[in-house]
Amino acid sequence: DEQELMAGFEATIERHDRIEPRDWMPEGYRRTVVRQVAQHAHSEIIGMQPEGNWITRAPSLRRKAILLAKVQDEAGHGLYLYSACETSGVSRDELTEMLIGGRQKYSSIFNYPTLTYADVGTIGWLVDGAAICNQVPLCRTSYGPYGRAMIRVCKEESFHQRQGYELLATMMRGTDEQRAMVQESVDRFWWPALMMFGPPDDDSPNTAQSMAWGIKRNTNDDLRQRMVDMTVPQAEALGVTLPDPELRWNEERQAHDFGTPDWDEFKDVISGNGPCNAQRLEHRRRAWEDGAWVREAATVFARRTEADREA
Ligand code: 3HC
Repeated sequence: DEQELMAGFEATIERHDRIEPRDWMPEGYRRTVVRQVAQHAHSEIIGMQPEGNWITRAPSLRRKAILLAKVQDEAGHGLYLYSACETSGVSRDELTEMLIGGRQKYSSIFNYPTLTYADVGTIGWLVDGAAICNQVPLCRTSYGPYGRAMIRVCKEESFHQRQGYELLATMMRGTDEQRAMVQESVDRFWWPALMMFGPPDDDSPNTAQSMAWGIKRNTNDDLRQRMVDMTVPQAEALGVTLPDPELRWNEERQAHDFGTPDWDEFKDVISGNGPCNAQRLEHRRRAWEDGAWVREAATVFARRTEADREA
C-alpha cells in the first residue's frame, strides 16, 4: 500500500541511492524532477544563442572551431537532459511547447546580450564556471537518469570553462583595448552569473524540499559561495577586478564576503522581462517551426521502415 511504497522511497533517498524511472515516487518528486531537468535542458538549448552569435565573427579559425565545438556540446547536453526528462513521462514536444509558451523557464543568464567578443571568454569562464559549481553535485542527484547525464556533461563543461579562461588570458596579454574589453565584459556578467544559482535560500520555495529529496545536494547560497571562492583567485591571475566593492576574504569564515545581487533584476529577468527574453524565445519558436518538416519526414520514414521490417 501507499505507506509501504513511501517508506521504500524514503529509505532509498536515505541511503543516497538512485530513484529510477520505474520506481514508485511521490507525485511531487516527479513534478520537481520534470521541472528542474526540463529547465536545465531548455537552458542548454537557449544558451546556444548568445554564443552562436559569435561563430561567424570569431577572430581566427582556431577560435571559430573551439566555439563551434562548445555550442555543439550545449546542444548535446540539451538532448541528454531532454532524454532524462522523458523518462519521467513527458515528451520532448510537450517540453518544447511549454518553453515556447513561457510555461517553463530556462537559466536567467541567457537573457543577457553578448555585445563583444570578450563575452565568449567570459561566458566560458564565469557561466560555465557557475554551471560546474552547480552541476558537479548534481552528479549525485537522487534521480538516476539525471545524475548519469550530469557525469558526461561535467566532463565537457570543464573544457568549456578552460577555453573561456584561456581566451581571456590571451586578450589580457594583448592591447589596452583588449584588456578594457575583457574588464567591461566581466563587469556585465559577474552579477548575472551569481544569480544563476537562484534566489537566497530563505527566499527559495523549492530548496528545502529538493534537499530533503536529494534532488539538490547543496543549497543555492552554498553553491554561490563556492563560485565566489573559486573565482576570486582566477580573477587575480587574469588581472581583472570583480565589480563588487564588498568582496573581501573573511579569515574567520575562511571564505569571501561579497555584496548582494540585485534580486529585483533577477525577478524581472525570470518573469520574462530581461534584455533578451523575447528575442531568445522568438528564435527558439522559429527554429522549432522551421524544423517541423524534418521531424515529420523522420517520423514517416521510421514508420515506413518499421512496416517494411514487419512485412
Ligand atoms: N534562472 C531561471 N529561473 C530560476 C533561476 C535561474 N537562474 N534560479 C531560480 N529560478 C526559478 C526556479 O525555477 C523557481 O521557479 P519555478 O518554481 O517556477 O521553477 C524560482 O526561481 C525559485 O527558485 P528555487 O531556488 O526555489 O528553484 P529551484 O529549486 O528549482 O533552484 C536552480 C533553481 C538552482 C537553478 C535549480 O533548478 C538547478 O540547480 N537547476 C539545474 C542547474 C541548471 O539549470 N543550470 C543551468 C545553467 S546554464 C547551463 O548549464 C548551460 C551552460 O553549460 C552554459
